[in-house]
Amino acid sequence: MPALRVLAFLLSLGPALWLVWAALTGNLSANPLSDITNETGVWTLRFLCITLAVTPLRRLTGWNGLIRFRRMAGLFAFFYGTLHLLTYIVVDRFAGLDFPDGIVAWSAVKNLAASVVDDIGKRPFITMGFTAWSTMVPLALTSTAGMIRRLGGKRWNRLHKLVYATGILGVVHYWWLVKADVSRPLAYGIVVGVLLGSRLSFARSTSVRRRTALS
Ligand code: HEM
Repeated sequence: MPALRVLAFLLSLGPALWLVWAALTGNLSANPLSDITNETGVWTLRFLCITLAVTPLRRLTGWNGLIRFRRMAGLFAFFYGTLHLLTYIVVDRFAGLDFPDGIVAWSAVKNLAASVVDDIGKRPFITMGFTAWSTMVPLALTSTAGMIRRLGGKRWNRLHKLVYATGILGVVHYWWLVKADVSRPLAYGIVVGVLLGSRLSFARSTSVRRRTALS
């Protein structure tokens, strides 16, 4: 099992390492920074789908050990989501600003923060992306065993249902940013919809079984 976890970790790090290699060796397109924004965005969504798939897969296969990979996949979704946010800040916001006092100045930080906040308020797909990323912050912060103990299983489980919202908001963000062809966001929407639907039907069948056992 530890070897499998190391393998899963290295595979999950693969897209980031590939991006660094491609950027350093000139293997990205003519707009490398935009490539990095798009790649990190897509990997955020893929890791969200993997995280959402763990529980249905565990129920289907009976392999309880799968649960150990859920935390790793969730943290990688947050990792790629944060890289995505940072590249957006550098590519989309920082690049368009003037810095009369130089880059290393308090006014530069203030102008950058104001530009990001302004954009979040102005462009709906950015509002949606930022909201999606924000829902991942409490999940990442409470992902440790210590935090599970401190919150208690029930409260922790309730809080971590936020990941359903992250998945939906991530798909809407993608849908709203594409200009014409919605086939890729639609495909991710179907995957997220099926994964969330399977949870609903499992919850419903468990409650029916419980009611039948009680009657
Ligand atoms: C859970 C969080 C997020 C997910 C799942 C996500 C997902 C994606 C995806 C799938 C793409 C398109 C990639 C492609 O076309 O190949 C994308 C692009 C983009 N995202 Fe996000 N995103 C998230 C958060 C954010 C945040 C927080 C921001 C900024 C505040 C942001 C800004 C952008 C921008 C600027 C693009 C490129 C748009 C363009 O084509 O010009 N995203 N994102």
